[in-house]
Amino acid sequence: MAWQLAAPAGALAENQVIGVRLGETEVALYRLNGEVFATHGVCTHALAFMKDGFLENGQIECPLHQGRFDVRSGRALCAPLSRNLPTYAAETRGDEIWVDLD
Ligand code: FES
Repeated sequence: MAWQLAAPAGALAENQVIGVRLGETEVALYRLNGEVFATHGVCTHALAFMKDGFLENGQIECPLHQGRFDVRSGRALCAPLSRNLPTYAAETRGDEIWVDLD
């Protein structure tokens, strides 16, 4: 287990995505219906950051070529994506968001 403090809970509003860097890993955090989710922060298609994407209905749309991923599962939902986005366990502990990168 490698749980790490990722962000203050107040930094992530409902239906918002933010990016954080944990060690060498770019991570995107999302809040949906009060629940926090985490994925890798970089698109699997090319170099674009999920934090700059458009979040709607539990899907994050990549800002570069508009590929969409399911935030909960990381599943790639449409072209040009062919690889899923890695996901990580995430939870709120008091005023903090923690992520498990393992
Ligand atoms: Fe994300 Fe192309 S870089 S869809």
